[in-house]
Amino acid sequence: MFLTHLECSACGKQHDWSRLQNLCRACGKPLFAIVDLAAAGRELIREKLATRERSLWRYRELLPLPKDVEPVSLGEGGTPLLQSNKIRDELDVDLWIKDESVNPTQSFKARGMSVAVSMAKFLGAKKLAAPSAGNAGGALAAYAARAGLEAHIFMPRDTPRANIIECREVGAHVTLIDGLITDCGAEIARRKEKEGWFDLSTLKEPYRIEGKKTLGYETTEQLDWKLPDVILYPTGGGTGLIGMWKAFDEMEKLGWIDNKRPRMFSVQASGCAPIVRAFESGEKFAGEFPNAHTVASGLRVPKAIGDFLMLDILRGSKGGAIAIDDEEMIHAVREVGAKEGLFVAPEGAACFVALKKLRTSGKIDHGERVVIFNTGSGIKYLDLFES
Ligand SMILES: Cc1ncc(COP(=O)(O)O)c(C=O)c1O
Ligand SMILES: [Zn+2]
Repeated sequence: MFLTHLECSACGKQHDWSRLQNLCRACGKPLFAIVDLAAAGRELIREKLATRERSLWRYRELLPLPKDVEPVSLGEGGTPLLQSNKIRDELDVDLWIKDESVNPTQSFKARGMSVAVSMAKFLGAKKLAAPSAGNAGGALAAYAARAGLEAHIFMPRDTPRANIIECREVGAHVTLIDGLITDCGAEIARRKEKEGWFDLSTLKEPYRIEGKKTLGYETTEQLDWKLPDVILYPTGGGTGLIGMWKAFDEMEKLGWIDNKRPRMFSVQASGCAPIVRAFESGEKFAGEFPNAHTVASGLRVPKAIGDFLMLDILRGSKGGAIAIDDEEMIHAVREVGAKEGLFVAPEGAACFVALKKLRTSGKIDHGERVVIFNTGSGIKYLDLFES
């Protein structure tokens, strides 16, 4: 294993990886896993990858978990990067869709949970807890079951029914809260010490982001090691966005790519757009978004602990942030379905609406290469659609 230590993303303080860790003990911000890239790069040359298994564990040298420990895996990652069928011609862009709905539990949350549950189990955790807007709960429930660990999942009462049922059917303890994901997180924080739970809230432990960073490795590998011009990412907690950016830096240090980066755009819902608001007003941190509401449950995150990291990435990449109305997302699910043959989650659909708007406003030029992340499946949101 080439993981050397954990480092605070804000103050740089180093922490030991060999015991269970949550946030930085000095400043309370997220910890990043630091890999010895020089050593990892001597073991893993990029050309070796083609012969390996299709799951995210093909990047094993760049991930935590000692070499002789079996990962907790359900076959996550290795998802298709599909060339757009019709929408690329209509909008005159070189459009690709990373279809994360084919992951175990039908969303990209499987990536983070496979790595985080593997490490939590290895480091001795027995009971795992997480707040969830929906899909993360389903993924945690499945990976905890696979690992033989307890899962305690806290969800807003109005989370899509499929997510709640799925968690229960794979053996998780589910608590429904009258409130938002932030209230669920607060409930875990209050009880975790007494209950002996390890808190797997996104970015409040260091390894979900390691799983999510494989979105960056995989997409780049599929594009023959050339990054696209633009990435559109449906943003709640922002773990995928932050993880991909970390992957790009790592790949540059490995000598796999140059220093050119895509323009990164956060796509949020008009009813919950803290990052859009902070981006537009030039703030370093994003305040809590009041009365957060949207049918895209994964985007209903009024306050994210990684806000400053996201805002740095959006600005540093010369990208941006854009909010989409719920009605537009629901309409786009059907449009994308009919034109591309994919039943996308409303979070993914939001990115297609964003693409149209960014083309119209000239923020994306004709012919540019754009990657959209369809982070989940529409099948989990059936209540939204007329039968
Ligand atoms: C389908 C879907 N898309 C996007 C998100 C937001 O992901 P992130 O927390 O990485 O911003 C979620 C989170 O729950 C989700 O379920
Ligand atoms: Zn710190």
